[in-house]
Amino acid sequence: MPATHLDKRTTSRTTWTHASIPTLAVILSLAAPAFRAGADEIKPLRLCADPTNLPFSSDNASMPGFYLELGQALGKALGRPVAYNWYKSYFGKRTVRVTLLGKQCDAMIGLPLSEDFMGPAVIFSKPLITEAYVLVSAKDGKVSSIDDLKGKRVAVQFLSTPQNLLAQLDEIEKVTVLSPEEGMKVLDQGKADVAFIWGPVAGWLNKTEYGDRYAIQSTEGLGLSWISAVGFAKTSIELRDQVDAALPSLETTIAGLIAKYGFPTDRPVKFNAAPTATKHAFLPASQALPIVLAQLTTVAAATPEAVSAGREVFNGTCAHCHGPDAVQSERRIDLRLLNRRYGDDMRETYWKTVHEGRPSKGMPAWNEVFTDEQLDNVYAYLLTLQTPSN
Ligand code: HEC
Repeated sequence: MPATHLDKRTTSRTTWTHASIPTLAVILSLAAPAFRAGADEIKPLRLCADPTNLPFSSDNASMPGFYLELGQALGKALGRPVAYNWYKSYFGKRTVRVTLLGKQCDAMIGLPLSEDFMGPAVIFSKPLITEAYVLVSAKDGKVSSIDDLKGKRVAVQFLSTPQNLLAQLDEIEKVTVLSPEEGMKVLDQGKADVAFIWGPVAGWLNKTEYGDRYAIQSTEGLGLSWISAVGFAKTSIELRDQVDAALPSLETTIAGLIAKYGFPTDRPVKFNAAPTATKHAFLPASQALPIVLAQLTTVAAATPEAVSAGREVFNGTCAHCHGPDAVQSERRIDLRLLNRRYGDDMRETYWKTVHEGRPSKGMPAWNEVFTDEQLDNVYAYLLTLQTPSN
């Protein structure tokens, strides 16, 4: 799988080039006195983290960032003190290889939940939150679709999905920036009308530096949003299971942290395809990795090809009742809610429903009409559209 997509997108905050800075390997134990007595037995939960990546992580104890505060809460839930291995540049495969897979830490919070990330070498917890690109604009000129962007100057980050997405739309003037900070700055200086940048950072900056002056509209679609989780080396199944067991008790904590760090929580608009061009124009293979797919483990071949084949089947057949691109205002048949509705059982429910139908309720059976592969493709496509549960 090409690495480019994720690497590019994650440069929204720390840049890939930072990965060449050697690990600082500072282990800071936050062991509370209570842990000292049994220090021989209780090993700290070691988290790899970037010391300068707010709103996600920071070595500033008074403002540690979303991921680190969540890590502290996790440590508490597991009865283990938390230690940090600071490593500049949080994301990127090289970082993960050196730190997590190099056994310098036990877990990394906030990795993209996708098999495409590192293949089977990395395993994941259940989903934490959905993160996405957002459209930031003045409150009285809020934009919520690609059409709204026409005639506007839009700040996009170099080599990001939004840059790619808007590249072919001549009616939109692009202002290229190198970071979300710069995107907010050109917006604030009146050099752009809209900033199409990484949401958590935009929300955080809007809250802390811009007095919540700007309206934020979240987006979703291939390469625009992804689900983050805790990542572990594949040998850490036991720890992963412990974390999964602890996560449900941390829902309130997570909601509190989302508010504290200003992460956007609005309902996203879907940006899979612009009105004026075919979807493929915006999604060259390297950009179309289905990063967004939750529960990827159950889909053998969730490739961009599978997603796009599934979309074709869907819009050709299922869309008559479930809406084109699954946009459907009647909740009962809104298939973007499958994940929210069924969670871990989503796959099974889908499979049973499409195979057997629910004839008494108006849902036909499709097993005679489509092959399992086609139904799998539709599933892969639907996964890219799921409404986040936060
Ligand atoms: C003729 C209309 C119609 C078509 C065409 C149709 N469905 Fe449905 N589908 C329904 C209805 C109505 C329901 C809700 C049944 C119920 O209330 O339990 C449903 C429910 C579902 C559900 C379960 C939703 C849930 O939340 O429980 C899935 C999954 C589903 N459809 C998938 C598909 C797929 C995939 C296709 C295309 C291959 C498709 N449907 C085509 C009418 C349709």
